[in-house]
Amino acid sequence: MCTAKAGLASGYVTTVRLNPSDNVVSFDTDALVVGVHTGPDGLRAAPGAEGLDEALGGKLAATLDALGVKGKPGEIAKVPTFGALTAPLLVVVGLGDAPEGDHDPEALRRAAGVAARALAGTARVALALPAASAEQAGAVALGGLLGAYSFTKYRTGEQQTAPVGEITVLSGAGGAEAAVERAATVATSVCLVRDLVNTPPSDLWPSRFAEIAEQTGGEAGLSVEILDEKALKEGGYGGIVAVGQGSANPPRLVRLAYSHPEAAKTIAFVGKGITFDSGGLSLKPTSSMDWMKSDMGGAGAVFGALVAIARLGLKVNAVGYLCLAENMPSGTAQRPSDVFTSFAGKTVEVLDTDAEGRLVLIDGIARAGQDNPDLIVDIATLTGAQIVALGWRTAGVMANDDELREEVVAVAGEQGENAWGMPLPEELRKGLDSPVADIANLNPDRFGGMLSAGIFLREFVPDGVKWAHIDMAGPAFNKGEAHGYTPKGGTGAITRTLVGLAERYAG
Ligand code: BES
Ligand code: MN
Ligand code: ZN
Repeated sequence: MCTAKAGLASGYVTTVRLNPSDNVVSFDTDALVVGVHTGPDGLRAAPGAEGLDEALGGKLAATLDALGVKGKPGEIAKVPTFGALTAPLLVVVGLGDAPEGDHDPEALRRAAGVAARALAGTARVALALPAASAEQAGAVALGGLLGAYSFTKYRTGEQQTAPVGEITVLSGAGGAEAAVERAATVATSVCLVRDLVNTPPSDLWPSRFAEIAEQTGGEAGLSVEILDEKALKEGGYGGIVAVGQGSANPPRLVRLAYSHPEAAKTIAFVGKGITFDSGGLSLKPTSSMDWMKSDMGGAGAVFGALVAIARLGLKVNAVGYLCLAENMPSGTAQRPSDVFTSFAGKTVEVLDTDAEGRLVLIDGIARAGQDNPDLIVDIATLTGAQIVALGWRTAGVMANDDELREEVVAVAGEQGENAWGMPLPEELRKGLDSPVADIANLNPDRFGGMLSAGIFLREFVPDGVKWAHIDMAGPAFNKGEAHGYTPKGGTGAITRTLVGLAERYAG
């Protein structure tokens, strides 16, 4: 029915389809996935698993008990069916406590993701998880597709594991078709972002990223405009030029635009796209540098979201800016104490060349003002302080408008992405005073570093425009083990939040 590509760089494709069958016993597949809940008197089968226990001679509960299955989220057990079912393999995933009302879509996404990850290399997987509504069916499909992702382009031979070939979501819910189709579109974008984040910086530099955006964005129906280093210099994009000048790979600003004839609102997204952040002359220590290929995750999310918005045909106008540069130390690199004039006209003293993200973003934010947007949202792997404050999985959201901040947090939550509202305390502004320029890019007091970065950005937001800033330094890249539908490495974080925002502004 619809196809989602997972692991684009590796050329793998996972197809997702919908089947209204509720006969899991005779369903023809290689692996049948069902859910179990923890319950006061032991395990409880989740909706979708009807008829299974009987077909297995009433021995399912005892078998799962012997395997130590408790029904907790993240748990998985593989049970051979010895011909009792058409599927040779039954896969049981934990769903936690049975909900009072509807199943939480995020719990379903995660369970489906756990199953898909455990079934890498399986040709056909059927997900018989709770899917009584279109929303639930979409969640199961999305979790399965995101969990099936694998990035193996740089592996040879045996180490290449193909993901799941085909996922079937068992649901007869009204509207499930559209929900599963949306899931495929969104998953394709998230996996595209993951691929870009995982791609080594030797294969992804600013102009290459711009070419990919032009190609894939163009195919999706976006209009794409690329400013090269000459155009950036002539156009007064002092921040992007300053950050990019230390690299042999010059910077780019990419503008992606989607419009709908019935749109009532225009939204603008601005992404930090540092294809590698060495810190520049304020060089990072090795242990902080080896994963800085992920420093373009914000631009990745903006790109992925714009592609999805176009493919979904949302009734909104959307503009995306990818602020692309490689932050390198060299004889041409900017120096601590250099001053540049930003696109907005304000001068900036660069006290620390490792605080480069904010320098490229301010040009993108100021330029986005020319599109007369109803709101601007910037997305960036901006500060280590975000990770200190909120950990690896929760993005920080700041804004010049309380309502917009809460809206972004709410939309992220709906999409299953963790985000938390953060303040922009006025007293931090004076820490950014520069003895020579209008503002400095560093507050020497490092406490509250995520907030100081937000306050710096706010100075460059066009007058009267609502603006929100998402710092996702932690969520963009998973340095730990895979969990739920999230793999190791690039996560594609915040892509879904941006699509969700676009859906909301599409009315
Ligand atoms: N890209 C980093 C932030 C980062 C850190 C992202 C860890 C992902 C994981 C950013 O450019 C940076 O270096 N920020 C500095 C700012 C400081 C110099 C004010 C930081 O957080 O240390
Ligand atoms: Mn940096
Ligand atoms: Zn950076």
